[in-house]
Amino acid sequence: MKLRYFSHSAFQITTDSNKIILIDPFLDGNPTSPVTSDEIFADYIILTHAHGDHLGDTIKIAKKSNSLVIAVNELANYVAGKGVKAHNMHIGGSYNFEFGRVKFTIAHHGSSTPEGFYAGEPAGILLTIDGITIYHTGDTALFYDMKLIGEMNKIDYMLAPIGDNFTMGIEDAVKSVEFVNPKCVIPIHYNTFSVINSDPQTFKSKVEEKGYSAKVLNFGEEIQLQALWEK
Ligand code: NI
Ligand code: MN
Repeated sequence: MKLRYFSHSAFQITTDSNKIILIDPFLDGNPTSPVTSDEIFADYIILTHAHGDHLGDTIKIAKKSNSLVIAVNELANYVAGKGVKAHNMHIGGSYNFEFGRVKFTIAHHGSSTPEGFYAGEPAGILLTIDGITIYHTGDTALFYDMKLIGEMNKIDYMLAPIGDNFTMGIEDAVKSVEFVNPKCVIPIHYNTFSVINSDPQTFKSKVEEKGYSAKVLNFGEEIQLQALWEK
């Protein structure tokens, strides 16, 4: 399984069976994205919440690729209203898709559509694909229940915001890593706009000082993921 980082919260996963899954595909309006939505296709799109920097180009990509959009109920209904296939879920629930398992977790943030309407609660995503567990926290503040998520799931890769202002900054993100205990943390949601400027290398050294491991991905970089926990 491969993971490609487009910057901000946007990722592309390519499974071993060649399914393409996007998370929060904010590309065209994203000054740091190395690709535009014209270049991207998807079998599935998973959304953490409806803010423009996460919903991004979902509708456009889903329409041209006939993608299935996976989101919490209110947001799934919103995209369905735009003529896109959707699978409605909600926080605490999980479902086995053809490509693997998706569970939505809590996240402390907001969620409204580009038109300004309530879009349900924001979420984090727990993904188990090809025997690898990924926890994309979504946009969130630090919260103590992350410890529970880490205790109940052996997280191979945690994707955690460090940009501050709207989400955790570095100090809180380091604490979130201590709570979750992932084998590897990848910093996200930074340097897209000046208000969320943050140094991923500083985050990496602070995480390493605590005895954890971090990987900073270049915008556009793709890596091969591995199961890092013995399961
Ligand atoms: Ni947001
Ligand atoms: Mn955001």
